[in-house]
Amino acid sequence: MKSKILLVVCLAAHMAFEAAATSVLLPSAKDNTLYQPASGSTTNSNGAGEHMFAGRTDDGYIRRGVIAFNITSFIPPGSTVTGVTLTLNMSRTRDRSEDITLHRVLANWGEGTSNAAQEEGRGVQAATGDATWLHRFYPTSLWTTAGGDFRATASATTTVSDREGPFSWSSTGLVADVQLWLNNPGTNFGWLIKGGEGTTKTARRFDTHEVGTASARPVLQVDFIPGVAVGACCIADGSCVTVTSNQCAQLGGVYHGDNTTCAPNPCPPPVGACCLSSGDCTNVTAVQCSALGGTYQGNGTICASNLCFVILTPFVDALPVPAPLQPVTGTIGGSAHYEIAMRQVQQKLHRDLPLTTVWAYGTAFPGPVIEAGVDQPVTVKWINDLRDGSGQLRTNHYLPVDTCLHGPDTEGAKPRVVVHLHGGKVAQKDDGYPEETFLPGQSRTNYYPNNQPGAAIWFHDHALGITRLNVYMGLAGLYILREGVENALGLPSGPNEIPLVIQDRKFRADGSLAYPAAWDEHFFGDTFVVNGKVWPYLMVKKGKYRFRVVSGSTSRTLTLALSSGATFHQIGTDGGMLPAPVPLNQLTLMPGERADVVIDFASYATGAEILLTNSAPAPFPGTPGVGVIPNVMKFIVTNVAGHTVALPTMLRSLERLSETNSVKQRDFVLRKSSDPCTGAKWLINDLHWDDITEFPVLGTTEVWSFINRSGVAHPMHLHLVLMQVLDRQPFVFTNDTIVTTGPPVPPPANEAGWKDTVRANPAEITRVIARFDGFAGRYPYHCHIIEHEDHEMMRQFEVVLPPLITDLQLLGSNVALGFRTVPNRLHFVQRRDDLFTGSWASFTSNIPGVGTNTTVIDSGGASRTKRFYRVGLLP
Ligand code: C2O
Ligand code: CU
Ligand code: CU
Repeated sequence: MKSKILLVVCLAAHMAFEAAATSVLLPSAKDNTLYQPASGSTTNSNGAGEHMFAGRTDDGYIRRGVIAFNITSFIPPGSTVTGVTLTLNMSRTRDRSEDITLHRVLANWGEGTSNAAQEEGRGVQAATGDATWLHRFYPTSLWTTAGGDFRATASATTTVSDREGPFSWSSTGLVADVQLWLNNPGTNFGWLIKGGEGTTKTARRFDTHEVGTASARPVLQVDFIPGVAVGACCIADGSCVTVTSNQCAQLGGVYHGDNTTCAPNPCPPPVGACCLSSGDCTNVTAVQCSALGGTYQGNGTICASNLCFVILTPFVDALPVPAPLQPVTGTIGGSAHYEIAMRQVQQKLHRDLPLTTVWAYGTAFPGPVIEAGVDQPVTVKWINDLRDGSGQLRTNHYLPVDTCLHGPDTEGAKPRVVVHLHGGKVAQKDDGYPEETFLPGQSRTNYYPNNQPGAAIWFHDHALGITRLNVYMGLAGLYILREGVENALGLPSGPNEIPLVIQDRKFRADGSLAYPAAWDEHFFGDTFVVNGKVWPYLMVKKGKYRFRVVSGSTSRTLTLALSSGATFHQIGTDGGMLPAPVPLNQLTLMPGERADVVIDFASYATGAEILLTNSAPAPFPGTPGVGVIPNVMKFIVTNVAGHTVALPTMLRSLERLSETNSVKQRDFVLRKSSDPCTGAKWLINDLHWDDITEFPVLGTTEVWSFINRSGVAHPMHLHLVLMQVLDRQPFVFTNDTIVTTGPPVPPPANEAGWKDTVRANPAEITRVIARFDGFAGRYPYHCHIIEHEDHEMMRQFEVVLPPLITDLQLLGSNVALGFRTVPNRLHFVQRRDDLFTGSWASFTSNIPGVGTNTTVIDSGGASRTKRFYRVGLLP
């Protein structure tokens, strides 16, 4: 529970006249929500929760807030109340305005310790002393009327808008209420906050006095003319209040004498927790904290173990090199069956960091390396065995879940998982469909045929709306698919081939992972974790190493380079080897992309230290230096000789997909939109997950253009297919149209291989080409910034079977021809009289594919003894 901090501030108190008006700002003394129970459900409450609600929910239940203030402690008896303003911060709203009314509550009620945390819209089982829909104090005293006893006439009404932020109520009715409470303190039970109850989906959320941000807490301003002498009273937290000397004593304050004022504030400054750059914490004033170079956490905050984020010393831990996972049956690299459980484990991620709770595939994060061979099928039984600290299967997520998002909006904070093999060409049922999640205690077995080029692909979680949380917790691992053609190339292998799974993270001083509760359009950690260690080092031999690099952050882009300035070689992309090694001095990888890289340490002196650096700003692209975590890891050169075989000049031949084979060109506009629940969301063609409009025909080739109308780059990923980048072309958006401003530019050599994730730069049209083969079915395509993916920048395409004649009947003198259609495409039907000679003639064209089947009539077709028909698709 949050400590309740007394927030009392004195406004200008003009003492020119004996009885001058003065003002106090009061924090709420208690607040709660009355949850109308669904039939048969329990009595819920949210006493210690950070929010309260008013209005009717989507599923039809009423919520009413209750709030009360301690009036007599701050306003002297006999005073005349002249003005009252209640201000509440509305932190979730809807896309229309709503009247919210305040009603004087007629009976006393309570606030217990119930805290619905991630289920606040619903509440949790009430605790002793909580107000509920039925109870004034759970479980002993009931309201006379369910839903609360309150005056029917509203004391005040304010219309709240579709915009979040502070809203105020002030009226003569509120003045009368407060005056009544001052004169008869026994009648002060506060106000009931009533929203639109006539229709569903009107519920609004307001912050309570428990909310973390002090400025968002409810505040009541009362203007009054004091009845007896008042003066400044200093409270321990540094705040000042104008009260009588008696009241000041009751508040535990120091009274400065009658007619002394709070303006300027005569009280000693308050102290709070100050986080130092060492990660230590000290309780000092704000001014002292800034002199120490620390970060002040706010008045009244107290140093606690997890308050300050840590600054960790880089390069003190050795890079873990994961060994290939042992299958249950079969062989490593051959056809095999694996069983992998997802577990919540405690892992040491840095020398100076306490154990961190992570989610592992198997025993550690990132997951194990699965070694597979081309055309050697692998099955994996994925087991959700996530348990809490006491060994029970988890029922909720470890991280806070934002229930605004698609997925959690109906599933809440459940620890759902589903595993996707990113870069794998697999059937829909094995692909990790984001809606087919499974809970702790359940498992799924997936079949991976491995019928595709050798490449470093990876598996990671893909649960709808919480992928970022699951991947951030650690659910990601590498899957190396090997192909015979590599063997003859003399590439570094065995101990000279090392995976580098690079991810950013943010830690609290207690070792726990920090991730915000509310969805934001990106998340950037302040630390790199490589193979599960923060900023590790690797002792290297004097020779070449092959690094299988996975760019695995949720939002952060990498631009990798060597601190020595040396050239390195990229030999492979997401989907396998390039035709030839590409020399590079730096390499940019967005989330989801991989690179196969050879670095040669042969020419360094023993003891030389070379950093793997990063220069990509965050967000990307951005101003150089902004948001950068500059170092990734360190290589230390030993005196041992290593792999010195020269890199081959040619690696493999690569099929080039040709635009002339493309049957369809599609445009995808990438841009940000607004969202009533979270403020913003990201969209592709302004459509959502359930809007399926792309139906590529199995076996055909298409060109997709990503038109990025936003200020950040989006790594666009397609499941099922491998892509090739055709080109990128700059554009401006004027008069509602896309106007290109330069020629299309083909990709650089290191991007000219098979890709499954492609950077779409801002203000550019990025064209890719892909053949939709392998499997029919629905597959996601999305931005691999997982914060974007989780909030609507993910849609699905459906690979469909080609049109096919399914029925032929005589209808009098006509022929009726039935055929299976392709959705959203135009079809033609042609006929001829002889199968091998004569020309095809169209008798009908432009038939839209709406249902699955359609029938066309060839009038007079029956007059011929022989008729041949064919059906096709218009481009
Ligand atoms: Cu790497 Cu759809 O994901
Ligand atoms: Cu994928
Ligand atoms: Cu994006």
